Amino acid sequence: LDDLAPKLIAARDEVVADVELMSSGSIPEDKQPLDAGFLNFPANVLQEASIDPTGSLLGRIEATAKSFRESVDACVLLGIGGSYMGMRALQEALCSPIHNELPRSARGVPRLYYEGNNVDSDVMGAIRDYLMTGNAAELEDRWGIVVISKSGGTLETAAAFRIFREALEKYYGPDSEEAKNFVIPVTGGEGSKLRALSEAKGYPEMFPVPDGIGGRFSVLTAVGLVPAAVLGINIKDLLQGAADFTEKFKTADVGSSPALDYTAICHLCERDHGMTTRILSTWGKKLEAVGLWYDQLLAESLGKEERGALPLTIVNTRDLHSRGQQHQEGRRDKLITNVIVGSANNEPVVIPEVEDDADQLNKYAGKTIPEVLDAAIAGTNKAYADDKRPTADIKLPQLDAYHIGELLQMLMIATVVEGRLIGINPYGQPGVEAYKQNMNAILSGQS
Ligand code: PA5
Repeated sequence: LDDLAPKLIAARDEVVADVELMSSGSIPEDKQPLDAGFLNFPANVLQEASIDPTGSLLGRIEATAKSFRESVDACVLLGIGGSYMGMRALQEALCSPIHNELPRSARGVPRLYYEGNNVDSDVMGAIRDYLMTGNAAELEDRWGIVVISKSGGTLETAAAFRIFREALEKYYGPDSEEAKNFVIPVTGGEGSKLRALSEAKGYPEMFPVPDGIGGRFSVLTAVGLVPAAVLGINIKDLLQGAADFTEKFKTADVGSSPALDYTAICHLCERDHGMTTRILSTWGKKLEAVGLWYDQLLAESLGKEERGALPLTIVNTRDLHSRGQQHQEGRRDKLITNVIVGSANNEPVVIPEVEDDADQLNKYAGKTIPEVLDAAIAGTNKAYADDKRPTADIKLPQLDAYHIGELLQMLMIATVVEGRLIGINPYGQPGVEAYKQNMNAILSGQS
């Protein structure tokens, strides 16, 4: 670590300086594209809101989301990649695991469905038909659309928007107020076809995906904040967690900076021990989508120039029963990072004592499910340690908006720090373009 620490500090300073470089307007060739705007965005949004609570981005998002969630009982979110995975992570981490099954009285906010994140006729048709046949049982079966695309031209999302927009216009009438008011677009600036279309349609509110923030770094912009606010997630806390984390990151030294320390562990394990697979071992189903979001972040940011570790998210103890064998005895190419939540949000479930004890579990009677989980975590880490297989822990005191904001910001920061450290531009994803061009050419009969 001694030789690495100064390099990490230099990488940190470069990440911070990248924001200034971006606003200088003269970005050197070897730094392009440069999308470092995510770093200060949460703090900037909070500061703007403290000056102008209603006219600021935060104020507008909260007001629009409130009126939307009070008007509709179901919402379909259209978006893919960075315009989808962040919100999925927020919903799974912070909302009830049975959100869509709950009655409106318990939910208080719309049910949420996801589309435009794949090309799958059966799934898309099922969701569209479900909304169209008035199965949304409350609020007179009203439903709406949040459509998110930074470029405004991604085929999966654009096609889904056309399909769901046509359904919405059929459902309420093409010129109805509802067909207009129940659509919230989130998109980039000039050049976005979604922006032009939304202006032509006259949707009352549209939110920006800022320049200088790439898709997979956009979860704490309107991309994640709008749908999160529709679901009643405390978006101010999310931003505050991220802003506080960033502030500390800018000055904390190696050894007391979670982002630098995590980067150091990942880098050293890969460089010195050939650990090219990074397993994010989430101890709880509610963190699975955070892991899938991180899979995209790491893969698209550092998977370039025939380099970059392979990210893999697992949920334990579930996946100890599927992948556990390989992690315990397979190739020594894996670094396992546990994501552990300190305490459950609700009253813990307890194993009851029963009279016949046919399953012989009375010896555990009175133990809570979190106690069983703690034993599983300690037992698994010990099994790996006994075989000299390294693990790292990321600990969240609680699963709430503030700590999720911190965690997401930490993972974004660690990813770009590592990019700067190893000389790979973490921004941009040129490799994703090849399939898009081929697909479009095939569809247009040009191939
Ligand atoms: O990280 C990225 O930039 C990508 O995953 C994009 O978010 C994804 O391709 C969707 O792009 P868009 O928001 O322009 O529709």
